[in-house]
Amino acid sequence: MFPWFKVLKKNTQNLLSLYVHWPYCKSKCPYCDFNSHINEKIDINKWIASFNNQLCYMKDELIHKNIDFKNLNTIFFGGGTPSLMPIKIIEHILNISDKIFGMSKNIEITLEANPSSSDKNKLINLKKVGINRLSIGVQSLNNKNLKFLGRLHNIKDAQITLENASNLFKNISVDLIYALYGQKLKIWTNELILFLKTNNLHHISLYQLTIEENTQFFNDYKKGLIKLIDNDLAAEFYSTTNDILKEFQFFKYEISNYAKKGFECRHNLNYWNSENWIGIGPGAYGRVWLRNPKVKRIEYKNYTNPKTWLSKNMNKAEFEKIYTLEDEASDIDTLIMGLRLNNGIRISKLKNKLMINSKALEELQNKNIISTKNGILKVNENHSLKLNSIINYLIDV
Ligand SMILES: C[S@@+](CC[C@H](N)C(=O)[O-])C[C@H]1O[C@@H](n2cnc3c(N)ncnc32)[C@H](O)[C@@H]1O
Ligand code: SF4
Repeated sequence: MFPWFKVLKKNTQNLLSLYVHWPYCKSKCPYCDFNSHINEKIDINKWIASFNNQLCYMKDELIHKNIDFKNLNTIFFGGGTPSLMPIKIIEHILNISDKIFGMSKNIEITLEANPSSSDKNKLINLKKVGINRLSIGVQSLNNKNLKFLGRLHNIKDAQITLENASNLFKNISVDLIYALYGQKLKIWTNELILFLKTNNLHHISLYQLTIEENTQFFNDYKKGLIKLIDNDLAAEFYSTTNDILKEFQFFKYEISNYAKKGFECRHNLNYWNSENWIGIGPGAYGRVWLRNPKVKRIEYKNYTNPKTWLSKNMNKAEFEKIYTLEDEASDIDTLIMGLRLNNGIRISKLKNKLMINSKALEELQNKNIISTKNGILKVNENHSLKLNSIINYLIDV
């Protein structure tokens, strides 16, 4: 153990997570607005040096700013397509993180894996270096929709990845996109039931397709080449899907996330609960709470473009921006994140409780849309799809 760590241990309190962004993919999916770029030849040593510099810098920052934290509670390799990441880089990040921050005994280490870049050997190596949770981008349960979504795998590839993964990992999540225009509810429910019966999964993230600016789908949508499902049908998809997942013992703990008991994604819970996290890699950002002199939240924003990020971090760490969040912005973020959770948000987390309009709150309570009990504010189950308008109403009347 490093001496500085002993000093920190005295007043440690908060959970600390690490997010690692890998910005490359084999191809760009037409709906995706994540910071992802077509794979290119990379210099492994330069990437290792840059990640290393960022981790060391963050260690110094946390000490310098006297931030309370326990050792790492979760690590998440997201992307992009982290299953394309050279194993040597993953291994290095895990080793150095352990050395400088320490890892909690039951640390959760997730990696997003695409079926088109996760053969058996890759999965074996991921397990060997310490990944203990896989989030597999299955995305759709039939080949027609996989093609529409521009995916490089078919349903058979996804099934092989899932089989290999379940022989190796005890915590497997799957990402799916559903409620596409023209998708039939009956066909979707049959596909989902068969999928849940066939595979031993622990967690599912289920997203309804959204059209994001600066994507191919955005242009197609504007030209009328693709359409979105109507809101009522989308709501029906949502509630029917919730019912099916419940039957299979998957409990909704966040608007789009379902888990078997004890398999909620601890990393994402740290975000939604507005805890501390460090973000390294292109476009990643981190947020930590400063306790002294007052409670303030500080944000570290990385350069988004991979080449810029690499050139800035190769010799010493450099962030595009480091700044303290305004109390109001921080509160709004805490509220938006926390209300996504089924368990809601502890009101004491808000610095300025007066930001919530009391008349609006009373009205929403009377309509049974929101409840406040024992200091917890939460959106009631069948209103979660209207979360954005509920929040706007609460803080903006
Ligand atoms: C970082 S992304 C992708 C991880 C991985 N590269 C993959 O494609 O499987 C995380 C998830 O967000 C979801 N997603 C991304 N864009 C979306 C959109 N426009 N509409 C709905 N879901 C989306 C997808 O399910 C995706 O797996
Ligand atoms: S959805 Fe995943 S694989 Fe597709 S471009 Fe985005 S990050 Fe890459």
